[in-house]
Amino acid sequence: MVKIANIELGEFPLLLAPMEDVSDPPFRKVCKANGADLMYTEFISSEGLIRDAAKSVQKLDIFDYERPIGIQIFGSDIDSMREAAIVSAQAGPDLIDINYGCPVKNVACKGAGAALLRDVPKMVKMTEEIVKAVDLPVTVKTRLGWDENTKYIVETAERLQDIGIKALSIHGRTRVQMYKGEADWSLIAEVKNNPRMHIPIFGNGDIDTPQKALEYRNRYGVDGIMIGRASIGHPWIFNEVKHYMATGELLAPPTLEERVEVCRQHFTHSLEWKGEKLGIFEMRRHYTNYFRGLSHFKPLRMKLVQSEDINEIYDTLEEIAQNMSYVGV
Ligand SMILES: Cc1cc2nc3c(=O)[nH]c(=O)nc-3n(C[C@H](O)[C@H](O)[C@H](O)COP(=O)(O)O)c2cc1C
Repeated sequence: MVKIANIELGEFPLLLAPMEDVSDPPFRKVCKANGADLMYTEFISSEGLIRDAAKSVQKLDIFDYERPIGIQIFGSDIDSMREAAIVSAQAGPDLIDINYGCPVKNVACKGAGAALLRDVPKMVKMTEEIVKAVDLPVTVKTRLGWDENTKYIVETAERLQDIGIKALSIHGRTRVQMYKGEADWSLIAEVKNNPRMHIPIFGNGDIDTPQKALEYRNRYGVDGIMIGRASIGHPWIFNEVKHYMATGELLAPPTLEERVEVCRQHFTHSLEWKGEKLGIFEMRRHYTNYFRGLSHFKPLRMKLVQSEDINEIYDTLEEIAQNMSYVGV
C-alpha cells in the first residue's frame, strides 16, 4: 500500500498531474470518475493568494468527492510561500504540493518554479518553512535539474526528505529541455532505488499508453505514475492503465457515444463551476482533444468553438454522437 503520511493510495496510484488551465474542478471531476487516485489543483501563485487575487483564490476550490486532493503553490519568496501554504491549508486539501518544476519564462525567470533548481539551498529552506507552517503533509513536484550539468535530483531528493516532505513527483526532464526530447526516467529510478529514500517516488513524463505505464513501472520501480497530457481529452487513461496492469488486457477504447457523454459532462461541470460565459469559453480548448481522429470533425468543431449558446453546443455534441464516425482510433 502506497501512503503519503496517512493518506492511503492503493498498491500503485495513478496521479493526475497539475496542469495550468486544464486541471480545474470540471476536468478533475471527469478524471476522478475515470480512475485518478490522487489529483492536484493547477499551480497557484503564492503572491496572488496573499494579495487575495480572485483568480488565485478561485483555484483553491476543492470538493469532497475529489479527495485525496493536493493544492499546488508556486513562488519565489520564502515568506510569501509560507503565507500561501497557510492560506491553502485553510481551504481543506489533503496535502500541499510545491512546484519546483515549472519551466515557463514568466515563472522560472522570476525565481519561481524550476528556478529553484538553480538554488537548491533556497529550495530546501523554502520547503522547510512550509513543512513547519502547516499541519498537512507537504509534497514536492520537480524536474531532474536545471540543465544537463545540474541534474542533482538524487541529492536534492534526500535533502527534501530530510526536512520532512512526504512524497516526491519527478518529471524526467530538465528545465532547459522544457518539453522537448524524451523524458529520462533512469534518474527517477536512481532516486527511488537510493536506500536512504523511504517516501513515495512518483514518476512523470510521457506516459501515454497502458503498455508504457506497465513497462515503466517494471523497469523503473516507482511507487506510482503521474499522468498529464495524455489525460487531456482522454480521462479514460487512468482506468485503461489500471485495467491493463490488473489483467494484461487492453480495455476497448471509448466509443464515440462515450466520448460525447464525457465531453458533455465536462461541459456541464464547466458551466456549473465557471458560469455560462467562462464555462462556454474555456471548454473550447478541449473539443479537439475529445474528438481527435474523428473524420469530418472540422465543421462541427467550428460550430462548437464559435457558439455562445448552451443548447446549441449540447445539440452539436448530440449531432456528433449521431452522425459521425472515427477513422482509425
Ligand atoms: C498545459 C500544461 C500545464 C501545466 N501546468 C503545470 C502546473 O500548473 N504545475 C506543474 O507542476 N506542472 C505543470 N505542467 C507539467 C505537468 O504536470 C507534467 O509534469 C508534464 O506535462 C509531463 O507529464 P506528461 O508527459 O504526462 O504530460 C503542465 C503541463 C502542461 C502540458
